[in-house]
Amino acid sequence: MRILGLSGSLRRDSYNTRLLHGTRGLLPPGVELDVFEELAAIPPYDEDHEQLKTPPAVAALKAAIAEADALLVVTPEYNGSLPGQIKNALDWVSRPVATTPLRGKPAAVLGVSTGLFGAVWAQAEMRKVLVTIGANVVDRELPIGQAEEALGEDGLPLERDAVELLSATLTELIELAGERSLAA
Ligand SMILES: Cc1cc2nc3c(=O)[nH]c(=O)nc-3n(C[C@H](O)[C@H](O)[C@H](O)COP(=O)(O)O)c2cc1C
Repeated sequence: MRILGLSGSLRRDSYNTRLLHGTRGLLPPGVELDVFEELAAIPPYDEDHEQLKTPPAVAALKAAIAEADALLVVTPEYNGSLPGQIKNALDWVSRPVATTPLRGKPAAVLGVSTGLFGAVWAQAEMRKVLVTIGANVVDRELPIGQAEEALGEDGLPLERDAVELLSATLTELIELAGERSLAA
């Protein structure tokens, strides 16, 4: 089983990207995580250009989502909402509506912030966007605030409760992906 990881942060030393890579430490045997690395290359969405040639980074993201059994999004919160670039990328992926690779795709959302609240608004917005596009989204959030103290070098939370919540989210995501592949 393959999970596609998508970080909403473009920053080299991103806490969110660190958590995304860290989740590998909790995945059971036989489940792999590939991280999409081309988010910064996605141009601004423009409906006038939608019928023209799909930009290469958009095509790469659509193909990566189509080939994955599940999507794991880890996002910071910017000004109470999603960072623009990841929303922009999902707007591209959502079109054309009839063929979006997100339709029915199992997905889960995590988030890390440096402040107290753990990007919960951004996580809620991300779940809303993914549900709107048609993904099958795990109804859980993982609020990891004060990232500097909360995340270990291995990318996993230091608090046991947070690790348990993270494990439960990953388990549910893997179960959804398993059910979907059985139904196919
Ligand atoms: C433009 C901008 C807006 C931000 N707005 C919020 C916010 O609304 N809520 C919050 O908890 N943190 C906010 N932060 C702080 C982020 O939590 C912090 O920069 C975090 O490290 C970003 O994640 P990253 O390390 O994965 O890049 C903001 C940061 C930036 C750069």
